[in-house]
Order: sequence, then C-alpha cells, then structure tokens
Amino acid sequence: MATQINNTAWLEWIAGLMGAGAQPTQTAALPPGQFHCSLEHLPLHLIPRRHLKSLSSVIQSVQPLFLNPHCMLLPSGELPEELQGQAELVGKFNLHATIAWVRNPGTRCLQPFWPGRQLEEVIANLRAGEPVPDSLAPRVKSILRAAGILVHETEIEGMARAWAHDAQEACSQFKVKGYAPLSSMIHPFNLAALRRYYRHEIRRGAIQLGDHQSACRYVAHNESVARFFHHQMANAVSAAVGEVVKPSYVYFASYLSGAELKKHTDRAQCEFSVTLSLDFSPEPDLATSWPIRLDTAAGTIAVYQALGDGLLYRGTRVPHYRQTLATGRTSTSIFFHYVPSGFTDSLE
Ligand SMILES: [Fe+2]
Repeated sequence: MATQINNTAWLEWIAGLMGAGAQPTQTAALPPGQFHCSLEHLPLHLIPRRHLKSLSSVIQSVQPLFLNPHCMLLPSGELPEELQGQAELVGKFNLHATIAWVRNPGTRCLQPFWPGRQLEEVIANLRAGEPVPDSLAPRVKSILRAAGILVHETEIEGMARAWAHDAQEACSQFKVKGYAPLSSMIHPFNLAALRRYYRHEIRRGAIQLGDHQSACRYVAHNESVARFFHHQMANAVSAAVGEVVKPSYVYFASYLSGAELKKHTDRAQCEFSVTLSLDFSPEPDLATSWPIRLDTAAGTIAVYQALGDGLLYRGTRVPHYRQTLATGRTSTSIFFHYVPSGFTDSLE
C-alpha cells in the first residue's frame, strides 16, 4: 500500500494519526535558535520519509502499552545524572521546559523530547509497570508511542537484543572491510528537530561558509548540539568497532551544489568516524543521490545513504571522497569522530 500513495498523502495520513491535524508544518512554539524536539509541534515534514512508514506501523499496533522504564521526565533545569558535569553538551538546548529523556536500551543513547504541558501531565500520571489506561486519547497515545515513551511489555528486551545483533554484524564487517553501516543512532523525531535547528542556524548566519577543504559548504567544529549526540553515540561506536572509544571532535558540514570532497584520509583524531546523512534537497524518498566513495582493499565502493543513516569507517586508513554535488542539490552531514580510549594527543 505504501508505494501506491504519494508523499503528501503520507504526511497527511501520519499527521492525522498523530493528532497534528492537516498542518504538519506548523510553527514551533519554542525558540528556533535553541535545540528542542517538541512533541506538540513536531516538524513532521522533516521526519525522513522511510521513518514515517515504520512509525506508522508502530502507532497502529494494538498490544497493551506501558510507560518506558528508561524514560526520565525531568523538570526545567534538571538534567540526567550523567550530564550534570557536562552542561556544555546541552548549552544550546532549550532547558526552560520539562524534557522526557528516553534511553535506547540497545545503543544507550539518550533521546530528548519536549512533551509540552499537556503531554507532560499525562506522562507524570503514568505508573511504571501498569498498563496505560484505555481512557488515554488516541492522539496522545500515538505521539507518546512513536517517541518510545510508551512501549510494549517485552519491547525493551527485544530492542536490546536487536541492537546486540546489529552491533555484532557491524563489528564483523568493520574489522574485515574497514567500514560498516550504522543506523538507528538518532530517533526520527530528533532527526527532524536537528534538520530544523541546523537550517535555522545557517539562515541566521551562525554557521560559517567555507573551510580549507571546500568553499561550498557551511561548517561548524564541535557545535554544541552535535556534540551532545557525539557523546551519546560513543557506547554504540565502541560496540561496533570492538573496543572502547572516546569522542574526539564532531564536524557539521552542509554542502551546496558544486561542492566536492577530494580524496583524502583523516588525521589521528578520526581513527573511527561515523558520517551521518542528516539533510538533503530535494527531499529523498530513500537514499540521497550523493554517495560517499571509499577506496577499500577490495576496490572502490559507493555508499548511498538515506537520511538518518550512519556509515562507520576507519577514516585514517580508508581514503574517502565525494564527487561534485549536482546543480540544485544540497547535502548535510555530521561527522562524528572517535579515538581509542587510551589516545593521549589533542582531541581537537
Ligand atoms: Fe574525511
């Protein structure tokens, strides 16, 4: 059925299911210059299309729902314990509202959601271990379910098992080939929020145009919001490379048409790199049309990524490049770089 309806229909359908009415592009109520992922004002049009399809099946499941035991609902100003000594990682977050911090049971990544007053009250009244009451409005249930704040009874265990399997596969491939796909690091709602945030940052002139590698890309080194996700992904990257890593630096790059990335290998601070495809125009149905090319021992491979896909590669050993980005296209990626835990040189 999915392939028989057009994208506008998809958006309208998912918007209806999630209670956002027919205005999926409604303006966020929170300041756009601060990162937030508002469940009341989600930019549905920025959720990658392939994720809309999987979210729709999640929402429609009829199994009993429970409050996710890995969800922390913290009021304005309060942070999860692990972030309390690292305020710089949330320096660009909107912290003037309650945030539901949901930990992925597999990757251990924290996913922040801003529920807004109404949903916040709903979550606060739910009790761990008790099924969600039937009286909960379908639109509320749908949005909390899609965010992973509500889960099925055995879902957490299943997610942890699925991640362990995926990490094992990635690890095996990475050791042999020097690269491996790494997906599902960032929740689709957070992806949409990141796309909106960075588009806004570029428009307001907060991100510089051009660096030593290309004059045709907006770039930011260790941008605060990217840094948050950078740190969150460290456990997952450790599992996928088979050793404990620590974050070195993160680089945001938004390419304009005409940009290219010449073949190169990276410096020592990029021993383990994840390039995450965040945004692209025109909006792709699945993969974007601008692959990253890797020169591996087995030959050159072109990796076509969909929005939200990560590619793990050994940047110091595997030459990589992108050919010229065609007219009328833009492409945004975040490069998350890691080093072995014992690395003692500069992390910058
Ligand atoms: Fe590179």
